[in-house]
Amino acid sequence: MKNILIPEHRILSRLKELAREIDRDFAGREPVLVCNLKGAFMVMADLVRFVTIPVRTDFVCFTSYNGAESSGSVQKRLDVSEDIAGKPVIIVEDIIDTGLTVRALTDNLKEHAPSGISVLSLLYRKGAKPRYGGFEIGDGFVYGYGLDYEGRYRQMRDVLILQNNEKD
Ligand code: IMP
Ligand code: MG
Repeated sequence: MKNILIPEHRILSRLKELAREIDRDFAGREPVLVCNLKGAFMVMADLVRFVTIPVRTDFVCFTSYNGAESSGSVQKRLDVSEDIAGKPVIIVEDIIDTGLTVRALTDNLKEHAPSGISVLSLLYRKGAKPRYGGFEIGDGFVYGYGLDYEGRYRQMRDVLILQNNEKD
C-alpha cells in the first residue's frame, strides 16, 4: 500500500512559493542553481520552471547513502561544470538528514569561489532547516518524487513514507 506523506499538489505549491522567494532574493543577480543528483532531479525540474528571473543550472553528484542507512561519508562523483566564481549559488537538494552531504558539498563549492552559497531542500529533518526549506519531516524513511529506496521508486509523484512491514 502506498503511504503518502506529501502529495504532489502540496509539493508543487510549496516549490512555487520557494521560487517566488528566489525571484525576490536574487533579482538582477543570475544565481546558479546546483542540483545534487540523483535525488534532487525532480525538485530541480519543477523548481526551475517556477522561477522567473534568469538563472543558470548545473548538476553535481555528492552522495552519502547506501540503501536506507547513512554511510557516514560523502563521495564526490560529479563536480560543477559551470564557472561559478563570483556568482551566487543555490544548492538544490531533495532531503537534508544529518546535514553531512550538504556540508561536504558546500565546502567543495567554496573552492570554486562563488559570491555566496544558499541551500534549498524540499525536505529536512528537525534542526536541519536550510535557508529555503520545503517541509520538515520526522524520522521515517521517505521515497518517491526523486528519492529512491534501494535505487527504485524515484518516479513516484508523491513523497511516500516507508512502512515497517515494507522493509525486508
Ligand atoms: P545527510 O548527509 O545525512 O544530510 O543525508 C542526505 C542524503 O541522504 C540525501 O541527499 C538523500 O540522498 C539521503 N537520504 C536521507 N534520508 C533519506 C530518506 O528518508 N530517503 C531517501 N534518501 C534519504
Ligand atoms: Mg540526495
